[in-house]
Amino acid sequence: MDIIKSFSQFDKILSSRNKKQIIFAIILSVITGLFDLIGIASILPVLSVLTNPSLLNTNENLNFFYEYSGLRENEFIILLGLISLFLIIFNQILRVFCNWYILFIAEGLLYEKSRDLFLYYLLRPYKYFLKSSTHHLVQKCTNYVHTSIGNYFTSFLIMISQTITFFFILGFLFFYEPFITLFLVISIGLFYFIVFNNLKGKISQTGKVLPFFFKETSKIISNTFNSYKEFKLSNNKNYFFKLFDLPAKKYKEGNIFINLLQQLPVFAIEVFAYVSILFLSLYLYFNTDNFNQTIPLIGLIALSLRRLLPAAQTIYLQLTQIKFFKKSFEVISSDLINSLEFSERNKKKNKSKLFDFNRTIEFKKIKFSYNKSNVLKNLDIKIHKGKFIGITGLSGQGKTTFLDLLCGLLKPKSGEIYIDNNLINKIDSDNWGSQISYVPQKANLLDQTVLKNVTFDDGKVNLRKVKKVCKIVEISSFIEKKLKNKYYTKIGEEGVRLSGGQAQRINLARALYNQPKILILDEATNSIDSIIENKIINKIKKNYKNLTVIFVSHRIKILEKMDKIFFFNEGNISSQGPFSFVKKNSKLFQRIIKLNSSKTN
Ligand SMILES: Nc1ncnc2c1ncn2[C@@H]1O[C@H](COP(=O)(O)OP(=O)(O)OP(=O)(O)O)[C@@H](O)[C@H]1O
Ligand SMILES: [Mg+2]
Repeated sequence: MDIIKSFSQFDKILSSRNKKQIIFAIILSVITGLFDLIGIASILPVLSVLTNPSLLNTNENLNFFYEYSGLRENEFIILLGLISLFLIIFNQILRVFCNWYILFIAEGLLYEKSRDLFLYYLLRPYKYFLKSSTHHLVQKCTNYVHTSIGNYFTSFLIMISQTITFFFILGFLFFYEPFITLFLVISIGLFYFIVFNNLKGKISQTGKVLPFFFKETSKIISNTFNSYKEFKLSNNKNYFFKLFDLPAKKYKEGNIFINLLQQLPVFAIEVFAYVSILFLSLYLYFNTDNFNQTIPLIGLIALSLRRLLPAAQTIYLQLTQIKFFKKSFEVISSDLINSLEFSERNKKKNKSKLFDFNRTIEFKKIKFSYNKSNVLKNLDIKIHKGKFIGITGLSGQGKTTFLDLLCGLLKPKSGEIYIDNNLINKIDSDNWGSQISYVPQKANLLDQTVLKNVTFDDGKVNLRKVKKVCKIVEISSFIEKKLKNKYYTKIGEEGVRLSGGQAQRINLARALYNQPKILILDEATNSIDSIIENKIINKIKKNYKNLTVIFVSHRIKILEKMDKIFFFNEGNISSQGPFSFVKKNSKLFQRIIKLNSSKTN
């Protein structure tokens, strides 16, 4: 039942090209199975003639070929042997090719699916990320997709291929010797059925250990490494080890258990094969007049078992794999289905015309909530192109939320956002986003060179432009004088080899390198000292005349330099206008200024 259900899910996960490949793999498996059978059958005339050469004259078919060949008796027997050898070699080559093709499909699918998933998650709406854990997403794009496609799905393919071979050989044997075949089928089938039936519940149960291991360990590892300093100075280091130890131990035990279960039947079935052949030989020895004549049959059965038993063992092994990896597959099956639909839709999508921003951004009666209570309440804001806008207010009043709405990352619950009198909903969010550079408070840096961190580009970069933006953000002299390889120096993961303020400046350089029309800085300079911050703002003003800058800051000295200020309070604007106007009208702002100036003094 489970298997049929999984098949119906594969149908939704596989593209039409994947399905064609699988059909080809099945056809190839049928051909390989057929040659398995021919290879095994070819041994029969060789052994028959060897034990009874007179067959060359008495057996009609053999006699026909013998006469036709014009060879002597010994030569013809050698020819029969060579033909059988050739068929078996050819069969093995075909099997290698068939196995390679299955591997090719499985690995290709794994590559496609992990790529599609990564892209699918990347292009999810921002709200999706707010609800998801990044560790879990990382696991889904790596471990889950590996176990789901690399193990779960591949097991299905191998099982189909081996089942075809199994039944081909069985069919032939049945045709040749029905009673012995029936005995073999019943004993092998019953043996594996009993083993599998008794263990399947336990295997499924053990399979749950995988999602648990993936989820927990990645979370613990990343949390601990991300807070290395706290960890190093913590009094309770064992806490972290214990958190890691439990899932890791469970994973180890689960793996030992499943591997043992998979191998156990092999020992029993090998004994079974030996006993079958021994009993068959003894039976024939005592019950036939001429034992010599039964040797071909014994040879045929022995050779068939050589193929049948590994096939049966592989089928059993794949069934256990399917049971074991089912839970992991279930975690991402719906994402795999959605990612396929998404990537096919994406292929068809036409690139829309780049949207231009020339005059104003206007928020009209915007309401927004993450959960129940409104974070933004009837927000009205109008921003003109080319201005330096300061956004300020106490913590948690909705400033960052406002920026996310402006970027199109979040959608308002009600109200409208207009860009040059065009509703933002009508603008392709990719197009709109490409005109904005957003710099958050926490610098986002890769373990790459300064150059790559500024450009985020692998292609041909414009070094002159990189140098120019680095100069504007007051980082060029540090790069050129203090870094050994200047712009080609690696700065470490998350910029660990830089100070907080330097990292923020590299982020700022990247934002400017992209030549945006709107630059959004969400407390993006708060690790930079006021003198340098002031210089950077002056340079940006001087060099980018048409740039609209939206600057969230708590620093009064910076806010003084803005063309206009919006003072956020409880999800609304309580005061707006030039600095002096807001200062005059907002009591809360006056208190903030007062506290700030006493702090500075
Ligand atoms: N992802 C989220 N899910 C639920 N609530 C959120 C989420 N992000 C923010 N909030 C809530 O929304 C409110 C506004 O948050 P926002 O980040 O916009 O404030 P802010 O004005 O930028 O504050 P700060 O100056 O501290 O950065 C806060 O009360 C916060 O708790
Ligand atoms: Mg904020």
